Amino acid sequence: MKANCWYGKQEVRVVEVPDPKIINRRDAVVKITSTAICGSDLHLYNGYVPTMEKGDILGHEFMGEVVETGPDVKNLTQGDRVVVAFPISCGNCFFCQKQMYSLCDNSNPNAWMAQKLFGHSPAGLYGYTHMLGGFAGGQAEYARVPFADVGTIKIPDGLSDEQVLFLSDIFPTGYMAAENCDIEPGDTVAVWGCGPVGQFAIRSAFLLGAERVMAIDRFPERLAMAANGGAETINYEETDVYDTLMENTGGMGPDSCIDAVGMEAHVPGLIGAYDRAKQAVMLESDRPHAFRQAVIACRKGGTVSVAGVYGGFDDKIPLGSLMNKALTIKTGQTHVQRYMRPLLERIQNGEIDPSFVITHRMRLEDAPSGFDTFLNKQDDCIKIVLKP
Ligand SMILES: NC(=O)c1ccc[n+]([C@@H]2O[C@H](COP(=O)([O-])OP(=O)(O)OC[C@H]3O[C@@H](n4cnc5c(N)ncnc54)[C@H](O)[C@@H]3O)[C@@H](O)[C@H]2O)c1
Ligand SMILES: [Zn+2]
Ligand SMILES: [Zn+2]
Repeated sequence: MKANCWYGKQEVRVVEVPDPKIINRRDAVVKITSTAICGSDLHLYNGYVPTMEKGDILGHEFMGEVVETGPDVKNLTQGDRVVVAFPISCGNCFFCQKQMYSLCDNSNPNAWMAQKLFGHSPAGLYGYTHMLGGFAGGQAEYARVPFADVGTIKIPDGLSDEQVLFLSDIFPTGYMAAENCDIEPGDTVAVWGCGPVGQFAIRSAFLLGAERVMAIDRFPERLAMAANGGAETINYEETDVYDTLMENTGGMGPDSCIDAVGMEAHVPGLIGAYDRAKQAVMLESDRPHAFRQAVIACRKGGTVSVAGVYGGFDDKIPLGSLMNKALTIKTGQTHVQRYMRPLLERIQNGEIDPSFVITHRMRLEDAPSGFDTFLNKQDDCIKIVLKP
């Protein structure tokens, strides 16, 4: 089969690889009909996350048709149309039982590697480093889906791939980011980053009852999409983010702040030079600029919800602000399996059509140019769907 594989910094290639097979009793094999490129893939593409190996199949947002199931997958049959959750989760361990699927204790065969860096290992993920399991990803014609009975949702007829594909990641991710804000009626939520995750965080904040959402980015097309979703927008290259947020909230600050930017924030000025230099020589893992701003801007007693991915150890985190303002921090890789059914229902009820975020459709063979276009925000690119 064909698959999009990682070959080093800013190098991916679509190559022929062996077809996946059933290995374990709870595996399924899915023939992929739609897959996408995620902001998280850019961290791999840019070489910021260790333990990728040449030839690793990328991709963790995919859906398709079940072609084969292991003997213990009782709830799926050949021909079922399914969306696959990006964390691989057993459904039975301490964490899965608490619906904290992205923390599954049974799905990462290389847990020791993650343990060294993080203290404990999160779940295995598709196409996302050997430290997180070395699983083949879904930017391919087929994928093996471990624990397929827990990690998939069947899609009823009448819904297109584009309406449901993002149940695999970015819709639940934006939703969990907003849910973590414990939004109360009248609340103002600020969202850093108007990429795909930020877009779903904005819409989810409204679904969960926010009165106002303020969205921060610098790309006009992304800000325009945020405004379309009802947000007031702040272009951080034109105005000071802190001053504008204070002005807009009578000096209080937003009730909650979502970081939908993560480790590769664009950081202007001196602090940017500092972060870039330290990240380049691996003295700092991330450029946590959005996180810093979110903490400083959040109202006293508010919540900072971190959806953006971070990798390691960072500098100049405003712990003083965090502590003295009594802030709550919530974060995590998304517990996708927890959200797939309720969010599918919201799609079926017509509360949201996730396909709004798609700006580009390409063949799987064009993944290399897709990565380039998405990374460089060329052609007003916001989200790319690949068709194997
Ligand atoms: N928690 C999870 O499970 C999960 C799942 C999916 C993605 N993510 C992460 O969410 C983040 C966003 O993903 P995406 O797909 O939307 O990526 P993206 O790269 O398309 O979007 C990031 C956006 O942040 C903006 N940005 C950069 N610096 C900024 C700054 N200083 N202030 C405000 N905005 C800034 C960029 O202009 C861009 O629009 C990534 O870190 C990704 O890894 C996390
Ligand atoms: Zn993703
Ligand atoms: Zn588990």
